[in-house]
Amino acid sequence: MRNLERADTLQIEHKGRNDFVTQVDRGAESEIIKLVHKAYPMHAILGEEGGKIGDNEVVWIIDPLDGTTNFLHRLPHFAVSIGIQIKGVLTHGVIYAPCTQDLYVGSRGAGATLNNRRIRVSTCRDLEQSLVGTGVPIKPDKLPAYIPSLNAVAENTAGIRRAGAASLDLAYVAAGRLDAYWEMGLKPWDMAAGLVLVQEAGGIVGELYGEGDPLSTGNVMVATPKIHGALNDVLKAARPAFDAG
Ligand code: IPD
Ligand code: CA
Ligand code: CA
Repeated sequence: MRNLERADTLQIEHKGRNDFVTQVDRGAESEIIKLVHKAYPMHAILGEEGGKIGDNEVVWIIDPLDGTTNFLHRLPHFAVSIGIQIKGVLTHGVIYAPCTQDLYVGSRGAGATLNNRRIRVSTCRDLEQSLVGTGVPIKPDKLPAYIPSLNAVAENTAGIRRAGAASLDLAYVAAGRLDAYWEMGLKPWDMAAGLVLVQEAGGIVGELYGEGDPLSTGNVMVATPKIHGALNDVLKAARPAFDAG
């Protein structure tokens, strides 16, 4: 937290409207890549700041600072998120939130943990009782497709939270703090680690409209098994005709 108070020394660059990057994002990514390559020189990298490096069946998908806007505003809700894909399959995920010192780890077939304790998705079975996380698109052109989903989820659940770090939204579903989460227009590094965690914690991972792989379309919805179907129906019904093509 002490370092957060020094956020005014940050060099802030705009990657686009509402999309920022600082020397902390870039520095963290290069440190992570150095460590990965020291241990596994042949492995490939897909990093938010540096893009693709190398070509290998093992790919480390890295978001060095997820929640940069929170970080810039000294909101203590951001994380480092690293997922591993082997032959196109997400197999491992780790998310670390430095302000709370929470470490989430998940491995395919081996479950998910928070600070070494096993985590499970919530037992929520009724959409009306659920608390659902989301992210508001930073690109204004995505808002017309997003707003109907926001209305529909608000009408059918107990509440919505927009906390500002997609990786932690997913980790919170895995840990049973949120019952579901949806977002549009994400990048692979926002969700690779979190998707492994949700799956390994017993949740359902899906594409927002049930069309393909969320890692490719960028549109994701995850939920406890009992409410996944109902939330899926609500989101599908709210999909605007222009977006459905
Ligand atoms: C952002 C956060 C945010 C989500 C955005 C992401 P960044 O990542 O995860 O919650 O709504 O879509 O881009 O830019 O802070 O790494
Ligand atoms: Ca991110
Ligand atoms: Ca980031």
